[in-house]
Amino acid sequence: MRETLEKIKAEALEALSAPSANIEDLRIKYLGKKGELTAVLRGMGKLSAEERPVIGQLANDIRAEIEAKIEQMTAERRAREIEEKLEAEKLDVTIPGDKIAQGHFHPLSLVQRQLEEIFLGMGYSIVEGPEVELDYYNFQALNIPKDHPARDTQDTFYITENILLRSQTSPVQARTMEVQKPPIKIISPGRVYRSDAVDATHSPLFHQVEGLVVDKGITMGDLKGTLEMFAKTMFGEETKIRFRPHHFPFTEPSAEVDVSCFVCGGKGCRLCKGEGWIEILGAGMVHPNVLRMCGIDPEIYSGFAFGMGVERIAMLKYRIDDMRLLYENDVRFLNQF
Ligand code: DAH
Repeated sequence: MRETLEKIKAEALEALSAPSANIEDLRIKYLGKKGELTAVLRGMGKLSAEERPVIGQLANDIRAEIEAKIEQMTAERRAREIEEKLEAEKLDVTIPGDKIAQGHFHPLSLVQRQLEEIFLGMGYSIVEGPEVELDYYNFQALNIPKDHPARDTQDTFYITENILLRSQTSPVQARTMEVQKPPIKIISPGRVYRSDAVDATHSPLFHQVEGLVVDKGITMGDLKGTLEMFAKTMFGEETKIRFRPHHFPFTEPSAEVDVSCFVCGGKGCRLCKGEGWIEILGAGMVHPNVLRMCGIDPEIYSGFAFGMGVERIAMLKYRIDDMRLLYENDVRFLNQF
């Protein structure tokens, strides 16, 4: 019986040591109610009175040893599992993160948004008008009749004789005044078209922002103050503005407006071509004919208007020397903004 017990012990310990051992099965096999050790103990009755306690003691020791082994193997296995889990879920929080490529606004959108922000801040509303426009709004309502020479500089694309792609954002002035009575204080950004060949400073499609203020007692002083405020916000606090007499059919008087060069401060440099001043927009007091055609009495109301090219402002602000760069969408260019 002693040999049987020793054999069971040796077998059990060896089986439990195998890395792939199924510990629970082995526990049942050796220590379970129908297990091998139990079977041996059942046969103890046949033993002599002297042998019984000795074998009993041995059997208990062996059971204890097997139990200890089971416990040890279980603990080892659990430790290994935890280690494997930790290894599998390892997270190095010191590794630099992956950069998420994020898009950003096109320089023209940036400038348009900044323009909008500046005028919204001065209490203007934003109004949009159609790009496919009637000859009437693009020209006639702006005091440019069919035979007017001012049409030459704004040749555009015609859908029919009376429908065209707008050559300026100014028609939004007429459209707004027709439906809204003073006080009016709007800007209108958007695309405009001209049948110009593409070069460093021309494009058949470009962008403008129009401005219009109509109310009682609006003067050229209001126009100057507004544009000065705009220029300082856009180009810097030191910026000065200058009005040069000009002619637009829809304003009287009319002016071209320059800003002092924000690179040299007015001394003369390459950007301002030695002038010290840079032209940025056209403006003037809304012509009485325009007010009248839109149903507003010029004896009661007066107004000012201005219009500027978004490309021109963007090119000045970011020192872009070729307009085509704005439309090619080369990411090497766009990434710089
Ligand atoms: N529409 C003119 C252009 O495209 C710019 C302009 C000049 C707009 C004077 C105005 C203005 O509203 O008053 O050249």
